[in-house]
Amino acid sequence: MSNEIAYRNGRLFIEEVDIAKLADEIGTPFYAYSATAINDAYSRLRNTANHPRVKIFYAVKALSNIAILKLLGKAGAGMDVVSGGEIKRCLAAGIPASRMVFSGVGKTAEEIALALGEGIYQFNVESLPELEAVSNIAVQLKRQAPVALRVNPDIDAGAHIKIITGKEENKFGINWDQVEEAYAQASTLSGLDVMGLSVHIGSQIMQVAPFRKAAEKLEKMVKRLRASGKKVERVSLGGGFGIPYQGGVFPLAEFGKLAGDVAEKIQCDIELEPGRFLTGEAGILVTRTLYVKHGTAKNFLIVDAAMNDLIRPTLYEAYHPIARVVEGNGRKEYYDVVGPVCETGDYFAQNREMEACFQGDLIAIFCAGAYGTSMASAYNSRPLIAETLIKGQNFAIIRPALTIEQQLSWENTPQWL
Ligand code: LLP
Repeated sequence: MSNEIAYRNGRLFIEEVDIAKLADEIGTPFYAYSATAINDAYSRLRNTANHPRVKIFYAVKALSNIAILKLLGKAGAGMDVVSGGEIKRCLAAGIPASRMVFSGVGKTAEEIALALGEGIYQFNVESLPELEAVSNIAVQLKRQAPVALRVNPDIDAGAHIKIITGKEENKFGINWDQVEEAYAQASTLSGLDVMGLSVHIGSQIMQVAPFRKAAEKLEKMVKRLRASGKKVERVSLGGGFGIPYQGGVFPLAEFGKLAGDVAEKIQCDIELEPGRFLTGEAGILVTRTLYVKHGTAKNFLIVDAAMNDLIRPTLYEAYHPIARVVEGNGRKEYYDVVGPVCETGDYFAQNREMEACFQGDLIAIFCAGAYGTSMASAYNSRPLIAETLIKGQNFAIIRPALTIEQQLSWENTPQWL
């Protein structure tokens, strides 16, 4: 958990804001983020990976609110985007496309044209047909598309099965034994300026070893490509740096050194695409206990947030620390912390030992800044909840909760029904 999110005299604060008071004022559930914690995480990475050729692109998908993008953009981060929607978000935050890399396996023609028109810094291209599509659109628009080939190094990064990306059987990147051929082919396409290689081996990785392995493979590949006369100026090591949901710590200094060493060895710009590392620990989900149900097998803490607001526990069996917002009397109980959604999978924790809770008590779910609200849905007709940003004593609602009326007003009933 971030230093900016801490208890004072038994009450949870984000920076100078008393979370229980905030909850009474704006209602629950809501997300709250610490601006200082996000800035700190960025500075820690920036100061450790401080080689002048290391460039940081924030993976917007982790938490994409315009205010957060503005904050990280101001801090100096570029942006890693995966859709036309994310490009437009970044533009709305005042960040030009010349500071964006565009990743993803399925870019549409419209998205490619948008990126080219805006002057994107780099496409990370994941297949031969995509290389051809980018080249064709670039030629039509009389542009030269800067591309890096996203390659698949076939490395097991040891993360959850649904967030591993760097294995041969995953859909991502060009398979390792096809890289040289693809690079050669890309170099013949007139709409492309082939800049280098990129990898992203997975997410929530807690060791440097898989990155080192990927870097070693990339170094060899860069040498081979250069030996055959190819230009290689940029190498992306991707994102995936883990946060301590359940203890442990990502060895940042060791990673920073690795990034700098690789930049020196291969004389390339080294690009990083952190998402979770920059925002994950900086956010909490605040929810209120609706009911405490003492069953025969279990105690259920039924809260007013649900899997549609934070799906990570349901989808990845993810662990998030959970605690009362105002500390209790120290007596402990075991609970399943569940939401109101009509699915057994709608839980935030199972058999979790916590301080005893009662109807009306506020609960904080920690480390919810990344892949929380950005993965939220309106399942069970539960509209998206509010997001708030705190800095010192200041707080702002950076997205109000959608109302059910807004959601209903999107829908049409055809005349012929
Ligand atoms: N670069 C690329 C190409 C990616 O696909 C991703 C994440 C990132 C960077 C940023 O990864 P990060 O630094 O945040 O680990 N929803 C899952 C995580 C999915 C990650 C998808 N790609 C979760 O909640 O754990």
